[in-house]
Amino acid sequence: MRSAIEIGYRLFDTAEMYGEGGAEEVVGHAIAQALRAGDVRRDELFIVSKVYPHNASRLGTAAACARSRKRVGLDRIDLYLLHWCGEHALADTVAALHELVQSGHVGAWGVSNFDVEDMRELSALAPDCAANQVYFSLGQRGAGFALLPWLHSAAIPLMAYSPIAQGSLAGHRALAAIGEPLGLTAAQLALAWVLAKDGVAAIPKAVKAQHLRDNFAAAGVVLSADVLRLCADINGFSLHAAVRCGADERQALEQLCRYITRPPCRPRRASGPAPRQAQTVHRTVCVRARPWPTNGCSATPRPR
Ligand SMILES: NC(=O)c1ccc[n+]([C@@H]2O[C@H](COP(=O)([O-])OP(=O)(O)OC[C@H]3O[C@@H](n4cnc5c(N)ncnc54)[C@H](OP(=O)(O)O)[C@@H]3O)[C@@H](O)[C@H]2O)c1
Repeated sequence: MRSAIEIGYRLFDTAEMYGEGGAEEVVGHAIAQALRAGDVRRDELFIVSKVYPHNASRLGTAAACARSRKRVGLDRIDLYLLHWCGEHALADTVAALHELVQSGHVGAWGVSNFDVEDMRELSALAPDCAANQVYFSLGQRGAGFALLPWLHSAAIPLMAYSPIAQGSLAGHRALAAIGEPLGLTAAQLALAWVLAKDGVAAIPKAVKAQHLRDNFAAAGVVLSADVLRLCADINGFSLHAAVRCGADERQALEQLCRYITRPPCRPRRASGPAPRQAQTVHRTVCVRARPWPTNGCSATPRPR
């Protein structure tokens, strides 16, 4: 977290669930050190935490928030989310969240893992939900179909968690092939694709310093419409996207073509049968209006 702050990250996502409070303590420890060292000011940081659904009763929400604030060592949590829909009446949770905002213990409140139906129920109760944090990545695009347009219409930002599909997109060869001539890793391309969506922020988790640096840089990447389409089309890649591409992108496409037309295996013996004809192999791969600082970093030792 100290490295992340040095790199420039300002948003940190955690939850009472992560390590049963352990992650919040790590966040609190790092923030305290960074503030003491003068690396960052409190008003530059944006701390997100979440209440367990089973704690999200009218009184339980306030108590859970107090525990979380103690663990992160702050008077205020900047964004406090209901982690997912649970057994308590949503009206009670929302009332508690409103009280927390009024008392200044929470800057804004929101939800997580809410689908369109959940959002409709919520919007009937309150118009001031500040965010919905959901699973969204090139490998998991469900939230982009109905939920994202709904959130747009309600002017509620989507926070994409697992934007690199829990790391699986980082090793995706076709994404790497598209990204290479653009000077981007597969993970950076996956992240830039998420961030190119209007009204979407992302909270990649990274421990390795290089990953932290790469992800921070990805927030500044602007992908052309063709590259965005190519990434989105990667399940059923077709060459029609190549036609309107610029030079760099054409190079990327050529690399991708080489990848998808690569023979599936090498001949075993030089004297054996002729190598199989190259064949097209469609490989299946498995996200800016931002109220938050541009770059999110998740401080979650053990997600979920
Ligand atoms: N609201 C919810 O219900 C919910 C659910 C799940 C997650 N979340 C939040 O979202 C955060 C991120 O989700 P996630 O951890 O599931 O998935 P993720 O951010 O998509 O992927 C994390 C994995 O990707 C690797 N990685 C990160 N940047 C990379 C890069 N540039 N190149 C190569 N590999 C890279 C990380 O490796 P290293 O760590 O080794 O660097 C780690 O293994 C969580 O930490 C949590 O805060 C919220």
